[in-house]
Amino acid sequence: MEQPITEQSNPLSSNIDVASSEEIVQILYACDLEIFHGWKNSQGIKDKGLIEKIENLAKKISNVIEKPGGGIVISGCGTSGRIAFLTARTFNCYLKSKGKEECFQYIIAGDDKALFTSIELAEDDPVVGAEKLNQVCKEKASVVYIGVTCGLSAPFVAGQLDLCLSQPEKYTPVLIGFNPVELARNLDIEKWDKTFLQVAQNLEIAEKQQKAFILNPVIGPEPITGSSRMKSGTTTRILLEVLSLFAIQKDIKLSIEELMSMYESVCNCVYKQSHHLGSLIDLAGASLNSGGNIYYLGCEGFGLMAMIDASECPPTYGASFHDIRGFVNGGFSALNNNDGDLSNSGSQYQISVEDFEREILPAITSDDLVVLLGEDIFQRSSKSLLDLPCKKAYVSFQWDQTSTSSTCVEFGLAFSIALNAPLMDRISPDCKFLVIQLLEEVSLKWVVNSLSTGAHILKGKVCQNIMIDVKVSNSKLFHRAVGIVQNYSSLSHEESCHCLLKSIYDTDILTEEQTSAPVVSHINAASQKLMVVPVAILIAKLSCSIKSAKEMISCQPVLRKVLMNYVN
Ligand code: F6P
Repeated sequence: MEQPITEQSNPLSSNIDVASSEEIVQILYACDLEIFHGWKNSQGIKDKGLIEKIENLAKKISNVIEKPGGGIVISGCGTSGRIAFLTARTFNCYLKSKGKEECFQYIIAGDDKALFTSIELAEDDPVVGAEKLNQVCKEKASVVYIGVTCGLSAPFVAGQLDLCLSQPEKYTPVLIGFNPVELARNLDIEKWDKTFLQVAQNLEIAEKQQKAFILNPVIGPEPITGSSRMKSGTTTRILLEVLSLFAIQKDIKLSIEELMSMYESVCNCVYKQSHHLGSLIDLAGASLNSGGNIYYLGCEGFGLMAMIDASECPPTYGASFHDIRGFVNGGFSALNNNDGDLSNSGSQYQISVEDFEREILPAITSDDLVVLLGEDIFQRSSKSLLDLPCKKAYVSFQWDQTSTSSTCVEFGLAFSIALNAPLMDRISPDCKFLVIQLLEEVSLKWVVNSLSTGAHILKGKVCQNIMIDVKVSNSKLFHRAVGIVQNYSSLSHEESCHCLLKSIYDTDILTEEQTSAPVVSHINAASQKLMVVPVAILIAKLSCSIKSAKEMISCQPVLRKVLMNYVN
């Protein structure tokens, strides 16, 4: 069976783990360019058929918004749900500023706590997905529902799409993802009667009858295999933003291709700084490797973008939530999220710069790195950081490198994102402001994704281009983990699965009860364990006991080095 493109290994990044920091950035750039230029025979986001669909869908959204009782609901899991939140927040804010009804809503699997922490198990439930959509839309007469699942795989989204298909008079379903439909996930979903593939095929039929849309450009595999927070997350942003801009601003006077080309030039501007970005990765890698933490601080969308980056590190790299954290100025008061202030629910939910100053600053050390994102937070925080022993970096669009204000950071990265002036001049002044905001936010996404990915590569959390310490916390990640173990061994799928189970259950001999338990039991058993996949890889590759695999890892956490020592 062909692997979904989103789960394939990208040949461009197969040596990213042994690249220098600057080379890491260049590899990430090459992979990101596939968003715009396509992969193999695909055209990426510039595909004509896709652009036509975006045009039609934007008109549909615009009609729904104009009617009373209409709404746009964007939903997804993990990064996809977080980007749904960001988009809804940004465009509601814009509509409000124009005195219009705020008609965007978001749903994220696991509710608002999942905006900041990883709650992957919630992604596996199609029934809860459908219930949530029902709840959000009960008062609405017509809804454009946009379900984002990069891998065309999340059961939570499948349940919602299925609900939409059963009520065509109310819902227009839209699926955003980055695989062809035939590569949608075709595995049984627990306590449900359809696979994702079946739902996607039903959607294809509805699309032919002009009752649904599937936006699934092929943009090539991720630079870190399966890490959909990166290219797929960026492409999700671009598609949602282009759609929403064209829906709310009929007289935008740009074509969709022109708007997309602006995102591409911003991508070029960011990565042109590969040397400086490489130095930033070195600083971040040094922090993680010496046991320090990385703290991003930002205002509004910049802070939120950074929080989203940080929140994906635990499931992707087995990181602790302390390793990289994001803080936004004003915390929940700046968010406009569904569930309101969650700051009393635990330290993971203390997300304001004020929380950072109160709880973290007093104990900060020279191993820690504070990254200021944008001019606003720099103005607000640079003085309080001046004498602190930590490493400090500043990423800005306006910073004048010659100005003395830079003396409090040892590292600064200034962008001037070259916007095509004739194109910008065609956009109305208030919409221009919004477009610049979106382009700056996406460029910061590229910066923080490079930083956190590069730092974890330097920490040894990537082998070739595989995330070898992925958290086994839902069905998709369980199956991905089995694939990773198989990839490093010459074992069959079943044998690889057994090695993973041995690591999960911490035993050299599995019982019948353990091997026959449902995947959800394995996920629950794995949830509190560290280094599950690296241990499984070692027992698969070296045929050793659990105990010796753990000993090897405690002496040398970089798996490629352990393997080099033991395998000729
Ligand atoms: O299961 C965790 C995760 O892989 C996140 O890393 C990711 O953001 C999320 O799932 C969403 O995946 P998809 O968009 O493919 O449903």
